[in-house]
Amino acid sequence: MIRNLRLTDLKPGMFIIDPGIEWTTRPYLYAANRRIRSETEIREIIDQGYQEVYVDFARSDTPPFSGHFPDQRDAGPQPTATMAEELPAAKKIHDQSLSYARKFMTDIRSGKLDPAPAATVVEDIMDSLERNPDALLSLGRLQRVDSYTHMHCVNVSILTTLFARFLGAPQAEVFTAGLAGLFHDLGKALIPLEILNAPRKLSPEEFAVMRQHPLLGHEQLCQISAIPEDVLKGALEHHEKYNGSGYPHSLSGSGISPIGAKIGIADVYDALSSERVYKKGLSPHKTLGILYQLGNKEFDAAFVAQFVRMLGIYPVGSVVELEDGWKGVVCAGNNESPAKPTVRLVLDACGKPVPPQDRNLAAGEAAPISKCLPDFPGIQPARVLGLEG
Ligand SMILES: [Fe+2]
Repeated sequence: MIRNLRLTDLKPGMFIIDPGIEWTTRPYLYAANRRIRSETEIREIIDQGYQEVYVDFARSDTPPFSGHFPDQRDAGPQPTATMAEELPAAKKIHDQSLSYARKFMTDIRSGKLDPAPAATVVEDIMDSLERNPDALLSLGRLQRVDSYTHMHCVNVSILTTLFARFLGAPQAEVFTAGLAGLFHDLGKALIPLEILNAPRKLSPEEFAVMRQHPLLGHEQLCQISAIPEDVLKGALEHHEKYNGSGYPHSLSGSGISPIGAKIGIADVYDALSSERVYKKGLSPHKTLGILYQLGNKEFDAAFVAQFVRMLGIYPVGSVVELEDGWKGVVCAGNNESPAKPTVRLVLDACGKPVPPQDRNLAAGEAAPISKCLPDFPGIQPARVLGLEG
């Protein structure tokens, strides 16, 4: 007798099982084969961000429970503009942020970084995310630029700002998180360009040089007056890992500051999903799947679960196929039902191009998503979403 329960309904003595459900279908499902011994164990699982479990009552010490898990989740802040309305402003903000990133990464080499413009950059990012986060997020992932390093500074700032806001941090803390994201890789400006931009795997010696960048960035930021403590920690700790396998100080668990942990997740998400000279970017869906697997290994599982919840399991820009064979690009997320975003359909079931049409999968009898299609020929997400030009 197997039942699906909310974690808040779980009791000591119940035997939970791994039903083998794909994570994208149930991203907040805690799956394991074990008996729950105490309330503390239950609290620990809840604290990691999980929401539901499957219980086998034939193997439990408790009587069967009649509860079930409703298909609900916390809605994030509601956008005040559509993505199309926000796109022109977001493009401008993204370009200005990139120009500043280019400038401070150059200036730091001559020791004359001017941190003043950073405040406007982060405030503009905060305003755009408030109006509609999908516009800046899509630009960050899909726009092609000449320098990955500059783009990465801006993208991590966008993701970290959004993450702090999503977690309910006060405005001042959201601002500091954005600033910390913007400056997290400052030390890379002091790494020789032939190593920094090498379009290949680094040798062990080169990698040792590259691993100096958190210390170098921290050192530079310490010389600037009034830089917030979280910005210093973000630069120093964003490559530390939950299991202690990171650098430069092999910190682990709660020894890593929350800002270091948050930037660490945003950093890996952007690095995996961005296109580089020597590699294709992974689909956002695939990237979130990888992050999810790294929970409690390289990252705090509670933070990863929240990060996945923030972006949705099919982030805007994901190329998907529906069960009726139609294909398109996710153009708007759905906070209530993350598996049912709005999809801009561009190919019919026979693969024939059709005029773009938006289908809200949460409405009526719409066919659900059957799979993600990384790199599907004939579908260019940036063009479909109107991000080019
Ligand atoms: Fe880094």
